[in-house]
Amino acid sequence: MENKIDDEKIKIEDVRPDKNLNILTGDRPTGKMHIGHFFGSLKSRIELQDKFQTFIEVADVQALTDNFNNPEKVKQSVSQIIMDELAVGLDPNKVTFFIQSQIPEIAELTIFYSNLVTIARLERNPTVKTEIAQKKDIFGESVTYGFLGYPVSQAADITCFDATYVPVGEDQLPLIEQCREIVRKFNSIYGETLREPVAVMSENIRIKGLDGNVKMGKSLGNALYLSDDLNTIKEKIMSAVTDPGRIKKDDKGNPDICMVYYYHNLFTDKAECKNICEECKAGKRGCVACKKQLIESVNKTLEPIRDKRKYYENNPKEVMDILMEGSKKARVTAKKTLEKVKKSMKLDY
Ligand code: TRP
Ligand code: SF4
Repeated sequence: MENKIDDEKIKIEDVRPDKNLNILTGDRPTGKMHIGHFFGSLKSRIELQDKFQTFIEVADVQALTDNFNNPEKVKQSVSQIIMDELAVGLDPNKVTFFIQSQIPEIAELTIFYSNLVTIARLERNPTVKTEIAQKKDIFGESVTYGFLGYPVSQAADITCFDATYVPVGEDQLPLIEQCREIVRKFNSIYGETLREPVAVMSENIRIKGLDGNVKMGKSLGNALYLSDDLNTIKEKIMSAVTDPGRIKKDDKGNPDICMVYYYHNLFTDKAECKNICEECKAGKRGCVACKKQLIESVNKTLEPIRDKRKYYENNPKEVMDILMEGSKKARVTAKKTLEKVKKSMKLDY
């Protein structure tokens, strides 16, 4: 079977490996990665790095659209993000890691594409709409031109690398859709030049926070970071929310409303989870012991990641070299795209 590339999205289990096709994905560098990122996107990237030509962007320019007043945070986060990615097993020999601001071609494309998108269309983008509502503290009553337009710049990210597939979470679908529209408009005006990308949806579980909040995040203070040390993991798990109806050890519990059980399902093997569930329901399990067991399971997963991350923390030059080498390589591809685009637009002087 051929890869189906006329669909708007495809499930990760349905993609056929093809080393001639490119994948592009990225993150805004605004902090370290937590286990929500691990289950939500990093795991699928690890799987895809062997199947396609993979580009991973550290989207510092996009991060500035809502952090323009905090360049230091963005700068610091660039290396943090990359260390997280390397620590989980993304391999710089397979993946081209690059920094968005090192590829001026993306900025050029953004300007060209901005003629092909109306303000009304950007204002209707559901992801952008939600984000603007959440960021009133930054934007006040009127959003910046740059933030409203970031979907255009993201379309430039994707098309610059001729990406066939873009592995993203559910929340990014409106951005891929907008990119596809820009591509169609471009091709219809200037002639067949750009490729319409397809979103690759992973199983994409959104991990709840330790407090039971549907979202895990730094500002919510409920996240487990890939770089957390054992003591931090202990502290966080010991204060996680359990079944509030359980006072004594032999009270019958309800694991379905317990965050410790929820996390056991992510980190502890299936047979043992079944056992935990039964013991809890029967009132034969203490919450403290249950939490201690979870600490062990979590640490078993995070310890090798943390160790690998330590190596990179101690070798910052190696990290920067990976990013700069990657950016150099990425730029070769970007330049080819710009050449094609400028030719189609009659800007080939
Ligand atoms: N918007 C993405 C996010 O907030 C990050 C991103 C930037 C991205 N450029 C991209 C994702 C290109 C996929 C493709 O997470
Ligand atoms: Fe949660 Fe475990 Fe306590 Fe049951 S025993 S409520 S699963 S922590």
